[in-house]
Amino acid sequence: MPYKYFVRIQDQILSPNELNQLYVKEVATLLNLSSGEVRIEKDADGMPFGFAQEKKMFLSFSHSDNIVAGCVSQSCPVGIDVQKIRPVDLKVLNKICTKNELTQLDLNTENFFRIWTIKEAALKCTGLGFQYGAKKLEINFEAQTVLATEGVEKLNWKKNTLLRFEELSAPQGYKLVVVFRLSAQAD
Ligand SMILES: CC(C)(COP(=O)(O)OP(=O)(O)OC[C@H]1O[C@@H](n2cnc3c(N)ncnc32)[C@H](O)[C@@H]1OP(=O)(O)O)[C@@H](O)C(=O)NCCC(=O)NCCS
Repeated sequence: MPYKYFVRIQDQILSPNELNQLYVKEVATLLNLSSGEVRIEKDADGMPFGFAQEKKMFLSFSHSDNIVAGCVSQSCPVGIDVQKIRPVDLKVLNKICTKNELTQLDLNTENFFRIWTIKEAALKCTGLGFQYGAKKLEINFEAQTVLATEGVEKLNWKKNTLLRFEELSAPQGYKLVVVFRLSAQAD
């Protein structure tokens, strides 16, 4: 896979400062570097990006309660999302899913969080911001892909860019997903 990731269960919920320190430490560990060799910043929309030994890298982070996750790639944009499975109003799916998506799975709480984490991770991967619209990203569960149907030209990505998602093993009661863009999909 073109990315490395970490998942940590913390004793307590971390402050933004503590989270940033943890991100640097964990990314450095993943890349076999010292913390001083890793620099992490955020763009105006809050999207993280960074440098490892001054070389650009793609980053994404997520936290839910005391679970913290992150991923890094030196070759392609990535997005990660971790969510605690909790009671939800399944009607929300009508707001975030396309008709085609709604026919692919039984609509229950477990699948709600599969859909939600994949879409959040895909939104982070594009970095277009959360106003971009969840319905512009269509999941194909069988192919394990997410099709970004419009708006990605802004990023110099091809229209109808295909992203791949991977559902990773998560602490009990959580869902964890990484989404990445295949390199060939860049313009
Ligand atoms: C703001 C938002 C990132 C919060 O999401 P969340 O699930 O509560 O939080 P997460 O912990 O998973 O993600 C937070 C991380 O996302 C990253 N992030 C923030 N803005 C980002 C952006 N524009 N692009 C990519 N990553 C971004 C940051 O690394 C942030 O970490 P930080 O809090 O340490 O700075 C965003 O997901 C949101 O507003 N969601 C609203 C819910 C929604 O409509 N979701 C659509 C589901 S289909």
